[in-house]
Amino acid sequence: MSVTTAPPSTHVPRWESLPDATPHTQTPAKIGRHLVSADQFTRESLEKLVKLAGTMEKFYEQCHEVLRQPSSKRFSRNRIVAAFRKEHGVGERLMAPIIFESSARTYGSFYSAWKYLGGDYLFPMTNAAESSSTTKHESFESTISTLARYGPNVIVVRHKQNGAAKLAAQVVPYGCSIINAGDGTNEHPTQALGDFITMRKFHDNLCGLRIAFGGDIKHGRTVRSLAILLSNPQLGVKQMYFCAPPAAQIDEQLSTVLMRRGVNFCCVQWPELIQDRAIDIYYQTRIQYERIPDPEVRSLMSTTQPSYAITEQIMQTMQKNGQLLMHPLPINSLNPEILPECEQFENAIYKTQAQVGLWARMALLSHMFGPNGTALD
Ligand code: NCD
Repeated sequence: MSVTTAPPSTHVPRWESLPDATPHTQTPAKIGRHLVSADQFTRESLEKLVKLAGTMEKFYEQCHEVLRQPSSKRFSRNRIVAAFRKEHGVGERLMAPIIFESSARTYGSFYSAWKYLGGDYLFPMTNAAESSSTTKHESFESTISTLARYGPNVIVVRHKQNGAAKLAAQVVPYGCSIINAGDGTNEHPTQALGDFITMRKFHDNLCGLRIAFGGDIKHGRTVRSLAILLSNPQLGVKQMYFCAPPAAQIDEQLSTVLMRRGVNFCCVQWPELIQDRAIDIYYQTRIQYERIPDPEVRSLMSTTQPSYAITEQIMQTMQKNGQLLMHPLPINSLNPEILPECEQFENAIYKTQAQVGLWARMALLSHMFGPNGTALD
């Protein structure tokens, strides 16, 4: 008697049929109703967002300055807030952050940014991987399209699958926007925006700059998004370096985008770059252990990692050369890719970068959902 087995499931998650999660057009598209890729930042929108982030920073500082004063004087805070929100706020609009993968900085800054802009929340879900019906084998797209029908104006989504944000944007009804807060190893456009705005705090423009990315480039999404944003020829970046062991180097998809855009880039061994003053900015990343399924590759990465770590000595050279050190955070606490003593250096700007992330997200949300926002057309 033959034993029959159940037929294999016929449900193929739709992100597997999305060969190209990033638009990869010759020139950037635009921020419209959704933001799924760093490819959507044009030079004009970046200029506007840099300026707007400056306004957000000023507002943030003013609010906190007033809060440090005696309570009798605090009525002035309400005046500042009311005037600011009239010009830049998001009105009564509703946000639903739906977070399927761990997130502290991105979730925290999106949540705070929306609040500073006067927005409200529907159902913040910080542990959607456990609490949503995807645990009952509901598909991601069905979960998102159902939740979208409860009325959020924007869903901020983070998910471990590449292409999840684009897929979400395809299934939500009109009136609901999607913002990508990180999808697998694909993209993290709002991190890229914050990184760009941070760079612009230290450089009037990026023309002629040489930028190196280090660490685990292949399994992370921050370098991919930032490289896509910076590949816009109108920004004038002179050179990009990717500094990683072969198992963690950029993939074919990203190198194709960069080649198509005419970017000068190469994959290198890094310490000489700093010593030789060949770079202006070094953007370090952590090993993404949770995204490396093969234990052999994980252990290889872990053994080569110390030779990629930024030490105090390297920091001294960078300081002398006027080179900036950036990192999207978090830094691994075991076997760190930037040693803790580096934080005291003025040109180690990753804490500033995290702070700018809040102003960048405020600027973006105001640009999309404030008066005349792009998402409201
Ligand atoms: C990054 C991420 O989640 O991709 N973190 C962040 O959003 N600030 C980087 C990382 O986890 O390494």
